[in-house]
Amino acid sequence: MSAPAFATPRLLRRAVVLTMPAAAILALMVMVQGLHVLVAGGLWLCAVAVVALMIRRTLRDAARLSLWARNLAAGGEAPAPDLTPESAAEEIASSVAQLRRAWQDRQGELAALARWNDNLFELLPDALVLLDEERRVVRVNAQALALFGRDLSGRDLAAVLRTPQVLDAADKVLAGGPAEGGSFDLVVPLEQSFRFRIDPLGRSPASTAVAVMTLTDLTAIKRMERMRADFVANASHELRTPLATLLGFIDTLRGPAKDDAEAHERFLAIMHEQGSRMARLIDDLLSLSRIEADEHTVPATVVDLARIVQGGADALAPLAQAKNARILVNLAQESCMVRGQADQLAQVVQNLLDNAVKYGRPGGTVTVTLGPADRVPDQAPAALRSGPAVVLAVEDQGEGIGREHLPRLTERFYRVDGARSRALGGTGLGLAIVKHIVNRHRGHLAIESVEGRGSTFSVTLTLASS
Ligand SMILES: Nc1ncnc2c1ncn2[C@@H]1O[C@H](COP(=O)(O)OP(=O)(O)OP(=O)(O)O)[C@@H](O)[C@H]1O
Ligand SMILES: [Mg+2]
Repeated sequence: MSAPAFATPRLLRRAVVLTMPAAAILALMVMVQGLHVLVAGGLWLCAVAVVALMIRRTLRDAARLSLWARNLAAGGEAPAPDLTPESAAEEIASSVAQLRRAWQDRQGELAALARWNDNLFELLPDALVLLDEERRVVRVNAQALALFGRDLSGRDLAAVLRTPQVLDAADKVLAGGPAEGGSFDLVVPLEQSFRFRIDPLGRSPASTAVAVMTLTDLTAIKRMERMRADFVANASHELRTPLATLLGFIDTLRGPAKDDAEAHERFLAIMHEQGSRMARLIDDLLSLSRIEADEHTVPATVVDLARIVQGGADALAPLAQAKNARILVNLAQESCMVRGQADQLAQVVQNLLDNAVKYGRPGGTVTVTLGPADRVPDQAPAALRSGPAVVLAVEDQGEGIGREHLPRLTERFYRVDGARSRALGGTGLGLAIVKHIVNRHRGHLAIESVEGRGSTFSVTLTLASS
């Protein structure tokens, strides 16, 4: 950095002007006190030279200072220039350096704040879309990116969401109106429900965004609401059917069949069966609600899954024999200790074996295999995928299950063939109970089925470290 040079004639002129009072005093001394003219002249020239030197240094410092300040203002990082020690210019330079440090600190704080705001914007659980005055997308956060599947910056909101209600609300807010909100449903690509809100942001020199749209995904909540309503309707229906049968028979026994001993015998047997069905249903519902209540606590005890599997197979053997079927148990040599609750795991084994026998081929074989898992499915919880696991597989040779039914099989009361399941005494809650128990054990349930060949239900659980 070089300071501009000062022309000598200009310097001298200033020095001459500044030494005029001294020249006047020297002239007076020549006239009154007889000071020799040459001496007076010499003294004046010395004064001019000293003043010129002083001015030159001050002007040079000022020029260097101004050049440095301009460089800093333009964002430069130059160190302070060489200035006359202990001069006013040096003091100004030190104040400017202090100001620069304070400014740099403030800039650092602002940058950190901007980064923090950015993180917050990205991490908010709702989808956020910033809009400019022309209703164009300025920026979207990670949730919005995941929702729309691509970055829509620069596009009109109408290209992102075609819902007229949302576009009207955006237009009103962008025209200077207050915040607007509402809800809408999407059908494609997926059925989803959203609550939306558009808030004015006000103008800022930092961004062209003047409004923010917030989208809250209500799909899961709505699904839960629907499931709860369905559940109550289904449970009532399931209870009402045997109850109606019971009441019908009571009326018959009190009326037309009052004195018919043979009818009494037959009807009481049916009433007993219907009563047991209601009791079973209530037991299953209570069991399901207990499992759900415990679902967030992983069992602490370590149990031997092999013993549980063998016990379940022994218990179901008579049922299999009644169908001329057999249960084949294959237990691996390796330890199959898992962290779990024994009676709940027994319920899993019992429900899967019961289904395999019930829906399996009469005279067929149900194969139960227990051993180390070679591979844990990708959909399984991360903890299960990260360590050694055991897999329990129950395979039957039944009719199999259509692909379209597989995702819904573990829903409460869902049956592929309702009449058949009911005729077999089923409540339609067995697999829902299995799924919740497996969830509580942080395991994974996989269902594979080939129509006409049979089905395999596999439960993968983390192997307990011995
Ligand atoms: N191994 C299987 N093969 C073919 N279909 C099956 C099999 N297991 C279950 N299903 C089908 O899934 C439905 C739901 O099974 P789930 O065990 O939940 O109820 P359920 O057996 O009908 O009654 P519950 O188990 O309460 O006695 C059954 O009704 C049946 O249609
Ligand atoms: Mg069942």
